[in-house]
Amino acid sequence: MKHLLKLMDLSKEEITDILNTADQLKYEKKHGIAHPLLAGKTLGMIFQKASTRTRVSFEAGMYQLGGSALFLSANDLQIGRGEPVEDTARVLSRYLDGLMIRTYAQQEVEALAEYGSIPVINGLTDYCHPCQVLADLMTIREYKGKLENNVMCFIGDGNNMANSLIVGGIKMGMEVHIACPSEYQPDAHIVSWAKDHGKFICTQNVMDASANADVLITDVWASMGQEREKEERKKAFSGYQINDKILACAKQDAMVMHCLPAHREEEITTKVFETHANEIFDEAENRLHVQKSILVKLLLQDKE
Ligand code: CP
Ligand code: NVA
Repeated sequence: MKHLLKLMDLSKEEITDILNTADQLKYEKKHGIAHPLLAGKTLGMIFQKASTRTRVSFEAGMYQLGGSALFLSANDLQIGRGEPVEDTARVLSRYLDGLMIRTYAQQEVEALAEYGSIPVINGLTDYCHPCQVLADLMTIREYKGKLENNVMCFIGDGNNMANSLIVGGIKMGMEVHIACPSEYQPDAHIVSWAKDHGKFICTQNVMDASANADVLITDVWASMGQEREKEERKKAFSGYQINDKILACAKQDAMVMHCLPAHREEEITTKVFETHANEIFDEAENRLHVQKSILVKLLLQDKE
């Protein structure tokens, strides 16, 4: 594994390895065992969009691993004034040991990896959110003991989260159910891949999707960059909410997860959110552990 650009690039074994190391790092952190595995290393973090969890967990994670992290707002970089990503990649590769980027186009992340010579980590694009879904898989495994054969149900927009959940869930042997309006389907290529590679349903019916679910997951109806579509999306997604009715369709011990930030009374009711706050905030915490695992795996490799 040279980069983390999307989950499609990873094998089941590589994902399992990331989760195992994340569990180990979490254990060590809880028990005060220092792990300065990345002493002297520097991670650059380019943000074209806002972030709380991704920024803080990557930054804190690098410090906990003995390295350092640089927050690089795209507005302050020359990239914000049109310097090509191909040049930015080659320059930053001369200074840094790794690069995390949150941006709009997946192609920009892929270009950074292609032109640079250091590991690139996707911290969210319009297409996918691999770090978040690795944290989600870690959390499901913690609560359920295993991933295989658990039924994961995502209700809402067929967005970056839906795309990564489908790929991550199917690769790890989960059954994946997606409920979203017909105009807001996940990526067509991912849907067809999922149909060929595992147990997968994509429907507009929230009751069918949530039937027998072990894990219910949702995300905002309007993602970053879609703010102008907010009102029309509110109408389109009004039936796509995790509430008591949906929980009643799922298994009795179903978990509820949300990558956050959450919009209460839109994609999830306040009651369901607060009842399942432990799972949701464990999920947020696991961003830290899983990303430290990713950083260790990528930044300890020799440069070519
Ligand atoms: N879930 C997530 O990626 O959160 P941030 O947008 O706060 O980084
Ligand atoms: N789908 C959301 C996820 C935020 C972490 C967005 O892209 O804004």
